[in-house]
Amino acid sequence: MKVGKMGGRLISLMGCAVLLCLWSAAVAEGAAYLKYKDPKQPISARIKDLMSRMTLEEKIGQMTQIERKLASSDIMKKYFVGSVLSGGGSVPAPMASAETWINMVNEFQKGSLSTRLGIPMIYGIDAVHGHNNVYNATIFPHNVGLGVTRDPQLLKRIGAATALEVRATGIPYTFAPCIAVCRDPRWGRCYESYSEDHRIVQAMTEIIPGLQGDAPAGTPKGVPFVAGKTKVAACAKHFVGDGGTVKGIDENNTVIDYKGLLSIHMPAYFDAVRKGVATVMVSYSSWNGKRMHANHDLVTGFLKDKLKFRGFVISDWQGIDRITDPPHSNYVYSVQAGVLAGIDMVMLPENFTEFIDDLTSLVKKNVIPMSRIDDAVKRILRVKFTMGLFENPLADLSLVNQLGSQEHRELAREAVRKSLVLLKNGIDNQPLLPLPKKSPKILVAGSHANNLGYQCGGWTIEWQGHGGNDLTVGTTILTAIKNTVDPSTQVIYNENPDANFVKSNSFSHAIVVVGETPYAEGAGDSLNLTIPEPGPSTIKNVCGSVKCVVVIISGRPVVVEPYLSSISALVAAWLPGTEGQGVADVLFGDYGFTGKLARTWFKSVDQLPMNVGDPHYDPLFPFGFGLTTKPKKGN
Ligand code: GLC
Repeated sequence: MKVGKMGGRLISLMGCAVLLCLWSAAVAEGAAYLKYKDPKQPISARIKDLMSRMTLEEKIGQMTQIERKLASSDIMKKYFVGSVLSGGGSVPAPMASAETWINMVNEFQKGSLSTRLGIPMIYGIDAVHGHNNVYNATIFPHNVGLGVTRDPQLLKRIGAATALEVRATGIPYTFAPCIAVCRDPRWGRCYESYSEDHRIVQAMTEIIPGLQGDAPAGTPKGVPFVAGKTKVAACAKHFVGDGGTVKGIDENNTVIDYKGLLSIHMPAYFDAVRKGVATVMVSYSSWNGKRMHANHDLVTGFLKDKLKFRGFVISDWQGIDRITDPPHSNYVYSVQAGVLAGIDMVMLPENFTEFIDDLTSLVKKNVIPMSRIDDAVKRILRVKFTMGLFENPLADLSLVNQLGSQEHRELAREAVRKSLVLLKNGIDNQPLLPLPKKSPKILVAGSHANNLGYQCGGWTIEWQGHGGNDLTVGTTILTAIKNTVDPSTQVIYNENPDANFVKSNSFSHAIVVVGETPYAEGAGDSLNLTIPEPGPSTIKNVCGSVKCVVVIISGRPVVVEPYLSSISALVAAWLPGTEGQGVADVLFGDYGFTGKLARTWFKSVDQLPMNVGDPHYDPLFPFGFGLTTKPKKGN
């Protein structure tokens, strides 16, 4: 059939029209505009749009945080898992590099991004005194020492440095700071507390803007804020009253009236929420017999409704399991009670599918209303949107050199110096400190003088920490002393010398470093608070024969009264971390002692609990005590 010129034009026009339709359909299908993915949209609009698209399964997935050992790209995709964590000591490989960490985190993230809605997961870890699970990270003094500094700006700088080291490994979230107010040093976690005085703990919440960044002026109170790729989401923990349990028994019962709870254990949460903390972790402990993980009045009624906290609430590790006694004995009830109390994300080191199944069933039976699920997911998404996780879900190698950087180690060294407390200096008004750098021969002794793991304490590389010098990179106190003294000074190291050895050498003086061995959580609960052997024997053998300064490495005040008369000088060094140089800086006068006790130092454990302000207050060294020295001129 012959088609005229006109007909030919018509056919080509029709062809173009068809092509145009096909193209626009393709555009519509392939690059459909998704409001929740548009960073120009207000976060509230992005949340609303995303929520409207989510199934119940996808919502419950966001509430699920699984331990890394359970995770894989496929698991993330199959269960829409919203978060992964490293428990204490859970690492991709021993001494893993920053790159190895990044590859692991990105692998999980790619699984999440491959889901229908592509919601990024958030990876959390306990970076509680630096990035402490990670080999070669800067390990800062534990909070018990940082409270002594009474220096909020130092804490902010530590937070910023820690954020960089955490991000160096591809992780955007840390379960820190612990803002417990430890009221009894028999608690195994007392070293995670800045002070027995809530005012010091409140001041130290300045670490939160260090970790997260400063919330812009005008940010409504309670709204979480995290300033992007060099900052991390923080976690104020453990809500509330974790440091007030009977006899300091970990995870036990805090018996105190409402006024006491609000005046001692709650104030720092006001500060944390005001500073835009992204998350809050619930305490294992109970308040007057009611498990905090099941306490709607405090978790929802107070934290969310009264304090207007708008981030998300996370459970502790198996925290909902421990609502019942024995734990996990009625898991459906645990899920129901925990989620209804106001927990938004549940930390699941195991049986995560049981959690998902039970929660799904409880919602479908309307035991848990959809509104509670929606509240939880909105909070989780609000944190993820505000920290830019949708725009930058995958980590790169740009920050790897921040891990253990010399700048951060110098900051930690400064913190060590400011955390030391001089409790005694000399006998008969003859000050021993600062020590001369130039002496013929000095003795360094004690189980903790040459032990990096001991000076770091728990939550270091392993959950419980451990002794030795190979666990990470740092400077022991012995090495620091050798770095500091004059080259002509002979330094003799003997970990546990007998009295004859000491007497037979004409030492100018001795430095004895002893204390507690590492522990974490309940493993550190102690009713006697004694320095374990051979510490006391070393003190006796050395200090009975030569002028000695004893440096105590401990997570809390310990029994020292029986030895005090034989000791010329006594220094509380707490758990200083990797930068032992800070101890020698002050012992030898490059810097003066400035630290003031942030905890009461008891005479006897029979006095406990005993805190500043108590009617019967008869300490060995009172709260706020600390002798000072001046830096030696021309040292
Ligand atoms: C622990 C601690 C908590 C920590 C969590 C994850 O049991 O109670 O402080 O953040 O589990 O490691």
